Amino acid sequence: MDSLLIKGGAHLEGEVSVAGAKNACLPIFAATLLTDQKCVLKNVPELSDVRFMAEIVAEMGAEVSNPAKGVWEIQAKNLSHVAPYDLVRKMRASICLLGPLTARLRKAEVSLPGGCVIGARPVDLHIKGLRALGCGVEIERGFICVDAKKMRGAQIYLGGRFGSTVTGTANIVMAAVLAPGTTVIENAACEPEITDMCKMLSGMGAIIDGAGSPTLTITGVSKLGGTEHTVLPDRIEAGTWIALAAAARGKVLIKGAQKKHLGSFLDVLERAECPFETRGNSSIFIDASSMRLKPVEATTLPYPGFPTDLQAQLCALMTQANGISVITERIYPERFMHVPELCRMGANIVREGPSAIISGKTKLSGAPVMASDLRASAALVIAALAAKGETLVSRIYHLDRGYDSIDRKLAELGAKVERIKNPD
Ligand code: EPU
Repeated sequence: MDSLLIKGGAHLEGEVSVAGAKNACLPIFAATLLTDQKCVLKNVPELSDVRFMAEIVAEMGAEVSNPAKGVWEIQAKNLSHVAPYDLVRKMRASICLLGPLTARLRKAEVSLPGGCVIGARPVDLHIKGLRALGCGVEIERGFICVDAKKMRGAQIYLGGRFGSTVTGTANIVMAAVLAPGTTVIENAACEPEITDMCKMLSGMGAIIDGAGSPTLTITGVSKLGGTEHTVLPDRIEAGTWIALAAAARGKVLIKGAQKKHLGSFLDVLERAECPFETRGNSSIFIDASSMRLKPVEATTLPYPGFPTDLQAQLCALMTQANGISVITERIYPERFMHVPELCRMGANIVREGPSAIISGKTKLSGAPVMASDLRASAALVIAALAAKGETLVSRIYHLDRGYDSIDRKLAELGAKVERIKNPD
């Protein structure tokens, strides 16, 4: 398992480009299984999660190739309806196979994904949605078994205790596009990644109204065809770069940072008096050389609220604000694995139920720390840039799951960072 050795204190300077969105690619790779025609995907990031997803669709029977950097071609002439545990356990997002297999084969057996370090991640809403579409759904031998012979359009309320569901919406949309009749999904996820998937499905011939809003109306069609689709830029990577640049007191132009997808995060940064400006529609420039951060209160919520996938990064940045910040997690109330590690670097953070109370400004000091999930790892890198001395972040395979070439990009901006290869 590789580690990242980071020497804090370097001021980042230059330009960085955001890659394609991981959380759009995963359902989009699954969506290619809805047709026997070829789909061409562009602006696909080079991430281990994407490679896993490519392996998974290949195992399901698709022909998969990666003819050029960022380009993937997928054609699923033949398709198995069974996604075994060995495949699904590689990555939770493989639950996104459920919708396409159900729609195309009218039957599916997808292993339940199992536990996750960021908290309970049930799939009851995915099952509720499929049942509403007239499918028989049983849990047997650890599998979600779907019989979709009688599938047809329906009115579905897809909200749960924590609001809408991102991959749940993806699954029900992917099932409904081939279900006879009209489906209306209420409280659908509005995340830009779901809108991007809907755009791709429309390119394949699906009829979807309301993408990006909480009400989706889908008119089922009998067949979908191939398409070419360019994946949208990753808003979470963009937000992470803003936090990295701020923590390193940098002057950085972040290309591919779309203001329209970062509204709630930018609002928090404005309140924190973090000095950034938007440049055109798709770049943000930050000059943090003389920044004095103010503390903030922020609460994670489904889009367009503050994203849970930027909560850890904000916690790390707020250790550098002058005063007490309160960051509350309403999507995954246990998603605070970064807190004890940040405290090992000198942060003053206490947990109070689903909130982290961060007293700043603290002098951080480099230490050996352990990455536990993707966004917690990003928080540790942010803290390492602000810290005095060296931080060794181990288990960075988590970072490689979601950040395309983060060590190279950091080094190009002037960070003192070295990937230490571990033969194990
Ligand atoms: N939930 C239910 N029942 C369900 C599904 C979800 O109660 O059937 C709850 C979850 O427990 C959670 C909330 O609803 O409290 C939202 O979960 P959601 O289903 O939206 O999460 P997800 O689709 O499994 C995606 C992203 C996550 C991101 C969340 C929230 C992908 C592949 N994953 O997960 O991304 O945190 O939405 O925005 O899109 C990451 O990139 O680091 C990551 C974890």
